[in-house]
Amino acid sequence: MSEAIKLHVNIDHVATLRQARGTTYPDPVWAASLCELAGADGITAHLREDRRHMCDRDLRILKQTVRTVLNLEMAATPEMVAFACELKPDVVTLVPEKREERTTEGGLDLGRAREDVERAVLALGKVNVPVSLFIDPSVLAVRTAADLGVPRVELHTGDYVEATPERRDAELDRLAGATGEGIGLGLHVAAGHGLDYPNVAAVAAIPGVTELNIGHAIVARAVMVGLDRAVRDMLGAIGR
Ligand code: PXP
Repeated sequence: MSEAIKLHVNIDHVATLRQARGTTYPDPVWAASLCELAGADGITAHLREDRRHMCDRDLRILKQTVRTVLNLEMAATPEMVAFACELKPDVVTLVPEKREERTTEGGLDLGRAREDVERAVLALGKVNVPVSLFIDPSVLAVRTAADLGVPRVELHTGDYVEATPERRDAELDRLAGATGEGIGLGLHVAAGHGLDYPNVAAVAAIPGVTELNIGHAIVARAVMVGLDRAVRDMLGAIGR
């Protein structure tokens, strides 16, 4: 039997709510524990250069409290690499970052960002932190990631999520093709971005996708029904 797909909850938007008023609540650290108690297999947090949601304090405490897997998403900048080398999360996911974007808009451009990514992979390798690259679901991007020597990739699901009904199957095929390529190259393949309760099952069903990173939809539902229920509902939606 194939391994059950894992759910990693991205808790950034708990911090977004806190930062909206500059309060100390809601605390993303508490949220992480509640997600784990509800069955999440991992916690993901994006420390942005502008600290618009998660802040250094959150990551430092999460490093001590997370009992599952702590995945730090970050840009491949010298500042963030130094922070991650000191923090030593279980995994670092390198993402492209633009100040003006509302959320991560696409996968890494491994042509343009290659040197920064290589530097980050090397530095994090020295402290035994595995690196994942957030990339578009293309065979070329997967091959380039494998060339860079990383053990993992996360495929950007945004094009699938935003596809018209006519394009949906084609986008799923792209995700499946990129996943197959990754598995063939021995990579651990995750996926995420924009996944929601109604659209997640098709991605969870792609053979070889072993982990989903989901944030906004879960935190948004949590406002209505509570975080425990929102995480359990998502576990149900991915067939767990
Ligand atoms: N994966 C990566 C690499 C991301 O940058 C994000 C958004 O921060 C997510 C997954 C989660 O996306 P969403 O909040 O839309 O579920």
